[in-house]
Amino acid sequence: MIQEATRTASQHLMDLEDKYGAHNYHPLPVVLSRGEGVYVWDVEGRRYYDFLSAYSAVNQGHCHPRIVNALKEQAEQLTLTSRAFYNDQLGKFEKFITAYFGYDKVLPMNTGAEAVETAMKLCKKWGYKVKGIERYKAKIIFVTGNFHGRTQAIISASVDADATADYGPYLPGIELIPYNDIPSLEAALKDPHVAGFLVEPIQGEAGVFVPDEGYLKKAYDLCKAANVLFIADEVQTGIARTGKLLATCGNCDCEKICENRYETRPDILILGKAVSGGVFPVSAVLADDEIMLTIKPGEHGSTFGGNPLACAVATEALKVVLDENLAENAAYLGEIFRERMAQLIAKTDLIKLVRGKGLLNAIVINDSPDSHTAWDICVRLKENGLLAKPTHGNIIRFAPPLVMTEEQLEACCDIIEKVILEISEELS
Ligand SMILES: Cc1ncc(COP(=O)(O)O)c(C=O)c1O
Repeated sequence: MIQEATRTASQHLMDLEDKYGAHNYHPLPVVLSRGEGVYVWDVEGRRYYDFLSAYSAVNQGHCHPRIVNALKEQAEQLTLTSRAFYNDQLGKFEKFITAYFGYDKVLPMNTGAEAVETAMKLCKKWGYKVKGIERYKAKIIFVTGNFHGRTQAIISASVDADATADYGPYLPGIELIPYNDIPSLEAALKDPHVAGFLVEPIQGEAGVFVPDEGYLKKAYDLCKAANVLFIADEVQTGIARTGKLLATCGNCDCEKICENRYETRPDILILGKAVSGGVFPVSAVLADDEIMLTIKPGEHGSTFGGNPLACAVATEALKVVLDENLAENAAYLGEIFRERMAQLIAKTDLIKLVRGKGLLNAIVINDSPDSHTAWDICVRLKENGLLAKPTHGNIIRFAPPLVMTEEQLEACCDIIEKVILEISEELS
């Protein structure tokens, strides 16, 4: 009787979304109502390990008490003024985040897509005003397999049929080259109209594609030589996810903020998601004065961009990342995770490979991208207390909160192993 009542509660909530919401997502059938650290609970009170972290937004763990407190305290003081006036949080946040990442200036927005749009506009403006590209001839190079968000400008650079079909006409001034392909970049950079090269250091949404060692550095050097801006979209890879504060960080073990830590210091750095620990939508574009000051009042902005609540939340969320050594933890646990998955691959043909860096990893299922095997595995993982979601059909991304302990990670690997071996057995 009780079971029936709770089942109905969950089903009822899913039905509401189905009936009244646009059908632009296809969620796993689980309705969440509470989160704490690495765990989330559904409306029936079942506990799950969150292995998606809201697509790497909840790096600091669900409802981190320090971040939630910052939100509460600021919410009682002042939430929004718009940028028509100054507020007492923005300047302090701007000083903090520019020092944190080592840039002259920041332009705060709300979502990752808005930050990418901002970077594209900044890049073009710099191209005309500083590089001297002929008016409206500027181009930005993107790579195949990219994911930078869902706006009209951004999908113009996408090769994903789901994201683009029936949404044309697309924005011109976009040059597409293959990812992880230096000769193609070299050739594309010969065009004097190119203002920027915009790239994810690791392609998250595409299925966690890690480029060859040295690709980013080489790409960066080529951009420098061609007077082209190297723009890194670290919306998903940033904020300790890949075992460094940023995926563009160098190979030193340093977790501190220092001037030399970048292997490839992006001319424009795009951040979102975990900048706020998933507590509030905050994104940020960082650049030095030569680039940032090309934008003048009235040319760009957002009602909510730089609001006091966002500033207070993001400041605390970024402090937590350093105070709790989250990059170090991600690097350490990532090694264990990939090792456990490699051991699993030796036991079954159902998984082809594991790849990733830090705690941004994926396994590739040995089945066609059109099959529902990865989906079925995720449904079974859910039934065993672990939430993950397939990407591009036969790939499952694993990205837990970075506050996970080694013991918890081992328990999660046990769940994954059990489910994969069970399904493997059923399919054989
Ligand atoms: C690399 C990257 N850039 C941009 C975005 C877009 O961010 P948002 O969904 O906040 O607009 C995402 C989202 O997954 C992303 O992974």
